[in-house]
Amino acid sequence: MEIVTIEAVEGREAEAVRDAWVARDVPQCGFCQSGQVMSAIALLREVQTPSDADIDAAMSGNLCRCATYPRIRAAIHDAAGELQRQAGREEARR
Ligand code: FES
Repeated sequence: MEIVTIEAVEGREAEAVRDAWVARDVPQCGFCQSGQVMSAIALLREVQTPSDADIDAAMSGNLCRCATYPRIRAAIHDAAGELQRQAGREEARR
């Protein structure tokens, strides 16, 4: 089994999530954010266009005492949208 931490995670989903997190200014104190980001990346690798229910279920193991949940959800939708746009551009080039 390979273990990947937030410091080493790579790929389209990771980049999209990082960009969305910054754009939405998601973190507050930052304590929970490593887990939130890793869960978001894992979700987007499994579900291309997650619903709010998909997001809530995928993120349910990560508690945020700063209650950043609305920004987390918005950032995941943003990241999913960006990944869809990238896929559309790649498809158009073929
Ligand atoms: S940002 Fe503070 S606990 Fe989540």
